[in-house]
Order: sequence, then structure tokens, then C-alpha cells
Amino acid sequence: YENITNKDDYKIKEKLDEAHKNIQNNTAYAIKLFDALLQNYSSSPRSLYGKAQALDILADKKRSNDILQKAIAIYLQILTLEKVPDALFETVADRCINRMRFMGNYRSAIDVHHKLIERFPEETKYKNQLVVSYLIINRVNKARILLEETLSKHPNDGFALVHYGFILKTIDNKLNESVSYLQKGISTKAPGVIDGRFYFHLGDALARLGKTKEAMEVYEDGVKHNLFLSKYQRSLYNVAHLKGQPWWKKEETPYAELYTALENNWQKIREEGISVLNKNGLFQSESENLKDTGDWKQFELFARGQKNVNNCKKCPITCRIIESVPDARGCRRGQTKFSVMHPGTHVWPHCGPTNCRLRVHLGLKVPPQTYIRVADEVRSWKNGEVFIFDDSFEHEVWHNGTSFRLVLIVDVWHPELKSVDKRSLSPI
Ligand code: LMR
Ligand code: MN
Repeated sequence: YENITNKDDYKIKEKLDEAHKNIQNNTAYAIKLFDALLQNYSSSPRSLYGKAQALDILADKKRSNDILQKAIAIYLQILTLEKVPDALFETVADRCINRMRFMGNYRSAIDVHHKLIERFPEETKYKNQLVVSYLIINRVNKARILLEETLSKHPNDGFALVHYGFILKTIDNKLNESVSYLQKGISTKAPGVIDGRFYFHLGDALARLGKTKEAMEVYEDGVKHNLFLSKYQRSLYNVAHLKGQPWWKKEETPYAELYTALENNWQKIREEGISVLNKNGLFQSESENLKDTGDWKQFELFARGQKNVNNCKKCPITCRIIESVPDARGCRRGQTKFSVMHPGTHVWPHCGPTNCRLRVHLGLKVPPQTYIRVADEVRSWKNGEVFIFDDSFEHEVWHNGTSFRLVLIVDVWHPELKSVDKRSLSPI
């Protein structure tokens, strides 16, 4: 504890160290000892730090936000003290940001980032950490300005390069520029740059620029770094060891009843979809920038395991079928939606976010010359028939026909997921 102990704390160092020893396994006792010290030395940085740490641990054990708030308040108090050693200031600020992010208090975290930057103005890493908080709460322009500042002084800072490249790709859609920043950043191998998100968007930018071979090399490199499950399966929210294959046969899944219900009722389902389509403005444009050309819209019935009550009122038969299948109705990592695609549409090759679901398509109105490729295999839809694929694998869609195509998309939990996973996985 040498470097976190200031001159005054040195005079009581033995007592501090003794109390510290008890923090993990004898937390209540440690708090008592630190409280006793604080009676006499109310602004002793290490006494406050010890107490905050103990409360932090206790909060975790008891899963108590109230206790965690008390810990955070003390962390903040330490940052305002006069004689805090650098190492303690850093440790406390780091942990404080970490816990504030955990509580979703990004605004408060940003104040702490600023304290760090003020105290260590030459340290790029604190500015980079602030970038991350800004991006989490979508204050992209704040992040952008900070990154530009850093890169003007340190043009080879890997962390800043990949984050700037990420913004150029995902916000500005500046593909060429994003490629150079992402490539240069990744090549530094600096901490934080070997990350699936940067490989994902670098490959995607290259693919959209027509550099398919280079894109595949990025993906294969990503597989070597364990960022992707395979060169084609590039979802980033994964459960380990689930069987992964692009196309699934009906018999390989336990959802026969769903398929039968969908296929037996496909004409009624189509009627519901078309009646919504005939009312203007109910279908929403695809919003994830996956489309190259054309027009592609969706009407959502379930998402993240929640029923869209208003939309379901317009499609009662369809929704009743989904509600009768817990692995569709409750698929918190997927959706059920109608998908309409107009002639001349091309959807870029892309991967869904998670390997936890399979995607069932029911063909409702399928004109000729409409295709979907998943990994290496191209198929087409048939009216009244389902097929099943895993959309965490790269897929691409074309509509070269002359009238709109309508399908119902139903996501279901991956058949190998355990029920505890289905209950506890975060929604997507
Ligand atoms: C996709 O999942 O990206 C597409 O298959 C959706 C669609 O409407 O074909
Ligand atoms: Mn897709």
C-alpha cells in the first residue's frame, strides 16, 4: 500500500493495513475499524478509501444499490481531498467510474473522467476512457472532438484510431476513411484495439467497397483472435458451444408445431400482413443501414420477448400462433415481424448480433427472382413454406423481381440453450 499512503496516513499505516486485511472476508469488522480511524482522522484518504472499498464489497454481497451509492459518495469525497497520492486518486477514480457505469450514471461518470483529465492532462488514456463513456450515451460529437484532439497530438494512438474509425464507419458512413483508421489502429495491437466490433466494421467497410477478399482476410484474422465463432458467423453476443450451422432442417429443431401452425395458416397470416401493408405508414423502414439499394420495411409484432400490443391487435391470428409457442413468444434475443421488400433491393452481407436464436421465415408473397444467401448457399422462399436459418451467419438478400415480396420472420431460441440461459440472457 506504499504508493497510496500519504505522509499523514503513514503515521497510522499499521492500523490502516490491519483494517485493510479484513476488507474481503470480514467486511463488517473492517468498516468498524475504518470508522474508528475516521473518528480521529476524518479526512484520511486511506481510511476513507478503505471504508468505501468495504461498502463496495458489501453492496456486491448484498446486491444493494443503497450501499453502493454510499461507497460511490465516499469515492467522490476522496477525489476532492487535498493530499491524495496520484496512485490512490487514479485507483479511486477508476473504480468510481466503473461503479457509476454499473449503476447507469454516465453523467456522473463523465464528471469523474474530467477530474482525471484535469489532474493528468498529459495522459491520453483518460481522454480515451471518456470517449467510451460518451459513446455509451450516444454523445458522438463529444467523442469525436476529443478523439480529434488526441489524434492531432498522438496520430498513432491505437485506441483513438479504432474509435475514430468506428465513428466514421457507423455514424458517417465514410467507408474509405474508416478503413484506414481501423486498419492503422488495429495494427498497433494496443490494448483495446483487438476487439470484435472493430474487426466487424473493418470487414464490413471493405466488403461494401467491393474488397471482398480483404474483408474475408480480416474476418479470418478475427477468428484467430477468437473474436468471431467462424469467418461467416460473426455475431458478438454469443453463448459458447451452441451448434452453429447456416441452414437448419425442420427436424433438427423442436419447433414442429410452430412450423405446422404457420404453414397451415399461411393465407390468413398473409391477409393480416397485407392489410397492414395497405394502411400507410405502419411498416417501418429498416434502420440499421444494412440496405445497399431499394426499399425494405418491417412491421414488428414481438421484440425482445415483449408483445407489441398495438401491432398485434392488427394481426390477431398471427400473434395467437406466436403466443402459443414459448420459444418464439419469449425469445428475448429476437423478434417476430412482417418483412416487405420491394423490387430492386439489395441487402448487404451482414450478421445478426447473437448466436442464441434461429430465424424462421414463412413465405407469404414471393415473386420470382428473390434470393437469400446464408454463408455459401443461396435459396428462395416459397409461398406457404418455412425455412430456418441462423442469422448470426453472414447473409445477403436480393430482390430482382417486379412486385413486392412479403415474408413473416419468427425468431426462436436456439434449441441447445438451457432454460436458465433463456431466463437470464440480456435482451437484444
Ligand atoms: C434478414 O434477416 O436480414 C433478411 O432475411 C430479412 C428479409 O426480409 O429477408
Ligand atoms: Mn438479417
